[in-house]
Formats: sequence, C-alpha cells, structure tokens
Amino acid sequence: MSTLLNYDTRYPSVADLKTRAKRRIPSFAFDYVDGGIDQEHGKRRNRNAWHEVELTPRYLLDVSTADQTSIIFGHDYAMPFGVSPVGLGNMMWPGAELALATASQNANIPYILSTFSTTALEEIAKVAPDVCWFQLYVPEKVEVMKDLLGRVKEAGFNALVVTLDIPVGAKRNRELKNGLKLPFSFTPHIVWQAMTHPVWSIETLIHGQPDFVNVLRYKEGQNEGLAQFITNFNMHGVTRERVEMIRELWDGPLVLKGVQYEPDLRDAIDLGIDGVIISNHGGRQLDAAPSSVYSLKNLSLEARAKLEVMVDSGIRTGMDVVRAKALGASMSFSGRSFFWGMGAMGTKGADQVINIFKDEIDRTLKQLGCGSIAEMDRSWLKE
Ligand SMILES: Cc1cc2nc3c(=O)[nH]c(=O)nc-3n(C[C@H](O)[C@H](O)[C@H](O)COP(=O)(O)O)c2cc1C
Repeated sequence: MSTLLNYDTRYPSVADLKTRAKRRIPSFAFDYVDGGIDQEHGKRRNRNAWHEVELTPRYLLDVSTADQTSIIFGHDYAMPFGVSPVGLGNMMWPGAELALATASQNANIPYILSTFSTTALEEIAKVAPDVCWFQLYVPEKVEVMKDLLGRVKEAGFNALVVTLDIPVGAKRNRELKNGLKLPFSFTPHIVWQAMTHPVWSIETLIHGQPDFVNVLRYKEGQNEGLAQFITNFNMHGVTRERVEMIRELWDGPLVLKGVQYEPDLRDAIDLGIDGVIISNHGGRQLDAAPSSVYSLKNLSLEARAKLEVMVDSGIRTGMDVVRAKALGASMSFSGRSFFWGMGAMGTKGADQVINIFKDEIDRTLKQLGCGSIAEMDRSWLKE
C-alpha cells in the first residue's frame, strides 16, 4: 500500500543517481565527492558492513502506516535522516548547498552546513531556520573560533557539530591525480573536463567559481594561498581543553562528529556533550578505520543512555537508515548520496534523494512489520 513514488523513476535509487552524476559532471568534481583515502578500503568496508546487517521481518500485523517522526534535541524531525556536512558543495552543482538546505527545511530533516561550505552560513540559516546545524572545523586561532561561533549563534543555527577526525590533511589520490586545487588551476585535464561537460560549466560560470566564503575573511594577507590557508586554519588535533572551551561558548545542543573510540565517548559524556555522530568521515581520513556499523554495534550501554547517538558513513538507502536505528542510531546522515543527487539532476536532485530515502524507509518498516521508526531496536536484528 505504499504510494510514495513521488520522484523521477528514471533514477529510482541513490546508486542510479551516482551513475548519472558520473556522466553529467567533470571527473574532478565527481572524484572529489566519490573518493576515499589511500586505497579506499575503508569506503568499501562501510558499504559492505551495512549490507551485512540483517533484520528479521514479522508478519500477521497491520502495517498500513509507518511513522518516521524522530525527535532530536527537542525538535520533531519528519524523518530519521539528514544531510552530512560536505565542504565545497557547490562544486558538485552550482547552488547545491542552498537547494539542499531549502529542501531540508521543506521536508523537515536536519541539514548540517560545513565550515568549508561555498554558501555563506548566514544565507543558509535564512532558508533553513528550523533545521540547520553548523559543523565546526576547529580553527587553530581561538579568536577566529570565537568570531565564527558568534556568527553561527547570531544566525540561529540549531546545533553545533564539532568534527574531530581530521587531525591531519588527507592524502586523497584521486584529487592529487586530477590536480584539484582552489582557486581552480586550469590544467589541460581540468579545461578538457569543463569543455566536455558544458551544462555544468555554464552553470558554474553563471554562479562564479566556488569559494570557502565562511572563512575567507580570516585569511591573512594576499600571500597566503588558499590551500595553505585551509591547512593552517584547522587545529592539528582538537584537544579536550578546546572542546571544554567550546562547551562554555555554545549553550545549544553540542555534537562531536567522527568519534569511534569508547574512551572518547566517555570523555564526551564527562564534557557535557549532547550527542555524537559515529563516523569515519565516509572513509576519507583513515583507511584502516572501523566501519560505523562496527562502532555502533560495540557502543557501551552508558554511551547509548547518555548521548544522542547518530551515524554516517556509507548510508545509501532507506533500508540502511532502518538498520542504523536497529543498531541504536536515532538519526542517520549521508554526504555522498545527496551530492550525487545534485550532480545527477542539478538542484532538483535535493527532493529526489529525500523522497527516495523516505519511500525506502516506509517500505522497509512495513515489510518488517514495524509501525514506527521509534519502535525499531536491537530486537529486530537477526540472532
Ligand atoms: C566531498 C566530501 C566533503 C566532505 N566535507 C566535510 C566537511 O567539510 N566537514 C565534515 O565534518 N565532514 C565532511 N565530509 C564527511 C561527511 O560529513 C560524512 O561524514 C561522510 O560523507 C559520510 O559518508 P557518506 O558520504 O558515505 O555518506 C565530507 C565528505 C565528502 C564526501
């Protein structure tokens, strides 16, 4: 009885959107989003681990409705998934960040804006006032951090997400081979890719080259190149003391992203953190990192009781979102799924991805015999 096929059925899954995005946008943009670190084993491990989570269906039940409402930090979100922070989002498709934030507001799902977004945080807060969260890459300079947090608070963001898992810049081989740098350096490869993807190029010309607009004001002098600036911007390892300082400065919901180690979770509880996103950055930082599924499975009872547990890395279907809830994550996020949607369909891709996830969650819950996502717990796991 599901009637949620309110999306373009030429691309009925995130996998189909990925295939189309690969054809439609330059390879350096596709590789930037798709790529992982080193040999990309971690990225594959993430996907395989979700496939391995088995759920046992229950029948002899009425499943005419399946409620997806998920309450996080006192807000009733309409669905148990949201958009992970993705830096340089408008490179995938010009206007992608504003379109995704607007679609998230309309659908009532969380949208996390990256520090390194290419749309100003103030603009995003205007279009997504009820659902916008801000992701903080912690600046080395305390005064820069304070200024940035002041702007985030003033703009009205609903939660702050501090990313812990980039103590060092990543070596992503695809980006290196593509010569991807900002501002774009027009190598023959980049020029050829732009020429052979004219719709993307024209849109990019109209909107202007993407730039890290939230943080450019903190650049010192003309001589600091952008790549160097970004490297210097971040703290090389966010310390416990710095998180304490952030806790004092930010009185709203505070989330740590990229946590996988049990003692780090205990520290989070001690520091008065409200939630965690169990994540390995989508396999983009440490190729040996455990999958998020593994870390979720091994989460202590204390962490589950005291923290709002959320997850990302490798989630591609509504069924994965239901699996995540069975493992204890009240909210799932994805980065690549949404940006493949943008690459495949332009700004229309935002609603397409949201509606695919919504439909798949609905069908999965009903097929399992579960009347609401709130009821999904470990008892549904096989074994
Ligand atoms: C292209 C790209 C850029 C990203 N930029 C950021 C970022 O600026 N801040 C951050 O905390 N995480 C960033 N991430 C990680 C995502 O927030 C998220 O953890 C990851 O995408 C989840 O895995 P998935 O893409 O497999 O769904 C980025 C991921 C991608 C793919």
